Amino acid sequence: QSLKEMIKFAVLKDHCNNQDQVRLDNTLRNEGPNQSSGRKCTFMNSPSRFQIRGALNAIRSLIPATSEGKPKAVVTHSSGNHGQALTYAAKLEGIPAYIVVPQTAPNCKKLAIQAYGASIVYSEHSDESRENVTKRVMEETEGIMIHPNQEPAVIAGQGTIALEVLNQVPLVDAVVVPVGGGGMVAGIAITVKALRPSVKVYAAEPLNADDCYQSKLKGELTPNPYPPETIADGVKPSIGVNTWPIIRDLVDDVFTVTEDEIKYATQLVWERMKLLIEPTAGVGVAAVLSQHFQTISPEVKNICIVLSGGNVDLASLTWVKQDEKSGPSQSDSV
Ligand SMILES: Cc1ncc(COP(=O)(O)O)c(C=O)c1O
Repeated sequence: QSLKEMIKFAVLKDHCNNQDQVRLDNTLRNEGPNQSSGRKCTFMNSPSRFQIRGALNAIRSLIPATSEGKPKAVVTHSSGNHGQALTYAAKLEGIPAYIVVPQTAPNCKKLAIQAYGASIVYSEHSDESRENVTKRVMEETEGIMIHPNQEPAVIAGQGTIALEVLNQVPLVDAVVVPVGGGGMVAGIAITVKALRPSVKVYAAEPLNADDCYQSKLKGELTPNPYPPETIADGVKPSIGVNTWPIIRDLVDDVFTVTEDEIKYATQLVWERMKLLIEPTAGVGVAAVLSQHFQTISPEVKNICIVLSGGNVDLASLTWVKQDEKSGPSQSDSV
């Protein structure tokens, strides 16, 4: 089954019919370099979080209808959002969930995973530690792995976000999506390019975790060489072997943003749009506000930014600026 068919299947089976709302907002029109471009922004904002689409689709399409075929457990590694979503989806099916979480993940995400009823197993920050711990947990629990971004059913579930964007904003010219492992942008790109190929799909990522940008630049999968340091914890993972070919072929461009730009954009959305997004979701907003974004074709007028999550550790907000804000200093490497 191709990924395109899987996306249709996810919708037909009502695995992912979340009906998240797109909101038109003028906030960015008067901000930064967009002031004179005449661009309009819409925001795809999930009241819960988007990861539920991928997790629910994976659980329901990987698990056979009969109860004897049900796995003893599901296992994943996640800095938080996919972990919460998988726990919730597994609970609906009565399956225990084990989530491998880096010790450094935000507290609010760890607490939410626990509150949904999963067992948390901690790993170190590196990919190697995460994979080793996951392998051990799979052996011990005889569980099946549902990868947060390389599992095709997860990619297909995330792709349903684009169906709602295309339905609700028929005149959209571009969709901007934060990229970590790339499941979300890959699913969205497959859907958009199948249904409305003229619509651009742009990935946005922190400059400090720019494996997607580097991969596109070099034409080969180029993972982050070491665990990245960024406030956007949801997009620390590198793109992988399943998402890279989709990104290579279907994502039109990748925009990188500095930590200052992410903070500025996140705070702007809180204060002006009254939406509690997490810094990872601010990456897409920061990309649209960046100088580099001004180089795209002036014909790209209607832009939809996916505000991909809202798990904010309120106790960690020491970076919030009290002063009158001027725009952030921009990176020259983008
Ligand atoms: C809030 C948020 N946005 C975006 C992403 C990126 O998704 P992906 O890893 O599929 O690229 C994640 C990943 O967990 C996330 O938590």
